[in-house]
Amino acid sequence: MREERGRKPVRLGVLASGRGSNLQAIIDAIEAGRLLAQVVVVISDKPRAQALERAKRHGIPAVSLPVDHFSNRADHEAALVRSLQGHNVELVLLAGYMRLLGRGFLHIFQQRVMNIHPSLLPAFPGLEAQRQALEYGAKVAGCTVHFVDEGMDQGPIILQAAVPVLDSDTVGSLSERILAEEHRIYPEAIRLWTEGRLRLEGRRVRSLPD
Ligand code: GAR
Repeated sequence: MREERGRKPVRLGVLASGRGSNLQAIIDAIEAGRLLAQVVVVISDKPRAQALERAKRHGIPAVSLPVDHFSNRADHEAALVRSLQGHNVELVLLAGYMRLLGRGFLHIFQQRVMNIHPSLLPAFPGLEAQRQALEYGAKVAGCTVHFVDEGMDQGPIILQAAVPVLDSDTVGSLSERILAEEHRIYPEAIRLWTEGRLRLEGRRVRSLPD
């Protein structure tokens, strides 16, 4: 129906370092017609990332850019930018991409880079957020989609979802409960962006009504 209004699918570039289940959720949302977008390239710093296999299965160009093939971080990021721009990417999505992006990259894609993190930020940034929440004794955990800035897991928050932490939880069971919410809110946040409904006011992101 949205296509009837003449909008073109937004061109998405996904950066992923691992399993790629969030990438899959995005692809599934597109294929189900819930998201007017197209994943035009998937790039990984890990040549063996499952995310690259998922991309290939869906006929999406899969690009491997291992950091150690470059003499420094700036050269690596320049290659990332070239690949994204070469595919005319409009919105960059970090989906389990385990590297920080530098100022140059973020300047080029201002307000056009999103990340998903498995905690209710600003609690538990960084690695193993689900383990951090469990070990801290939090009773509520969750996930956050946010715009990316130079800090680690610090940019303006777009959407969050909460899940309970159960007494019986292990890192595995809690991660699974959080992941189900990640797969729901990441495509939703992307949809808001593609529909031009996100407004940044200072650190606050407002979602305009449909
Ligand atoms: C997801 O849980 C994502 O939130 C997390 O990595 C996992 C990737 O899973 N990202 C971070 O921790 C970023 N700081 P996936 O490869 O199956 O999408």
